[in-house]
Amino acid sequence: MAKIAVLGHGVVGSGVVEVVHDNQQSILSRAGEAIEVKRILDLREFPGLSYSDRFTKDFSEIVGDPEISVVAEVMGGVHPAYEFSMQALRAGKSVVTSNKELVAQKGAELLAVAQENGVKYLFEASVGGGIPIIRPLHQCLAANELTEIVGILNGTTNFILTKMFKEGMEFGEALAEAQRLGYAERDPSADIEGGDACRKICILASLAFGKHVYPDQVETQGITKLTAADVAYAGSWGGVIKLIGRAKKREDGKLTATVGPAFIKSDSQLAGIEDVFNGILVRGNAIGDVVFYGRGAGKLPTASAVVADIIDAVKNPGPSKSLHWEDAAENQVADWREDQAAYYICLRAADNERARAAASGLFGEIQALSRDDKPDDEFAFVTVPLPESKILDGAARLAEQGMPALSMIRVLDC
Ligand code: HSE
Repeated sequence: MAKIAVLGHGVVGSGVVEVVHDNQQSILSRAGEAIEVKRILDLREFPGLSYSDRFTKDFSEIVGDPEISVVAEVMGGVHPAYEFSMQALRAGKSVVTSNKELVAQKGAELLAVAQENGVKYLFEASVGGGIPIIRPLHQCLAANELTEIVGILNGTTNFILTKMFKEGMEFGEALAEAQRLGYAERDPSADIEGGDACRKICILASLAFGKHVYPDQVETQGITKLTAADVAYAGSWGGVIKLIGRAKKREDGKLTATVGPAFIKSDSQLAGIEDVFNGILVRGNAIGDVVFYGRGAGKLPTASAVVADIIDAVKNPGPSKSLHWEDAAENQVADWREDQAAYYICLRAADNERARAAASGLFGEIQALSRDDKPDDEFAFVTVPLPESKILDGAARLAEQGMPALSMIRVLDC
């Protein structure tokens, strides 16, 4: 019988306890032994549960217990999750986690400490909730040179964007609906400002390209400034707007990583991913494109991935040979402004013909867009792919000429 501890009895932690209890027979056959939750760390009281006697507020009762071989850290946040994870690894216990903030900030260090101590640090649940993506990246796709990862990595914003597209809601209205249904947090800033997707693309890029990519190296924009007009223009262009996390390896070996709203064509493999679902496209030189799709959040989908990691750690107790990356090499992430991208730009411009001529002069060939009830003083268009620095400079020149950009959104081919 393997004994484990769960740090945090929130949505995911209580899901882990539930899945370990409800699926004990199948877990026994897959892990080769039964798994029991011996201790649960939480500062709150949980009276009246069938397992209320297992709670503790004292982490030393877990780290000092030689019977406990695996710790599931599902508390979230960097501190004290980082200190607890370090202590558990140094005590020879494998740690599994759903904590994307911690993995994105400290993954290289935690992986190294796990190796040194002959145990595992696993985090399948940190990206894509229940979607298998971490293990496929370092095991099933190991034969590939990976060149790009593009994904819808945040369920809350995907729900909001779906409502804006399908029901014509403005951003604020769609956010209120997401909060009413319990998808968005009361403070939804990590979702809507792009921080949650940023952490997830850091983890995927670090694993795919072998060097730690930190959140401050990723150019991150959220969806708070999107308008119903942007949505209408995307529709008339033949596409949708999605919050896309993207990491690419350039031919010179450097990486670029961005998170932001993007126009994508309706026939793109990611365009049909709606509501709270996530989708992740991985591009490899042998496999071509492969897309992972499923429930990216929620109690039981996330617990499913955490418990799969627990089973792996129980069944194969030594360190993982393939799940690792090194700490960041200097200058490995290039300035995103050097990257090429097409852009949708919507200008405030009283004279549309003057705007068209000025935009063509700055960006070359452009595709003008229209929408129902377009105000006369608005001119929207899509550029061809250009270095992003050139797009930014061009928009600044248009603003100097009295034609400020109301919106600027990347156009991605994925
Ligand atoms: N807030 C996240 C989302 C939860 O909406 O995708 C899962 O990481």
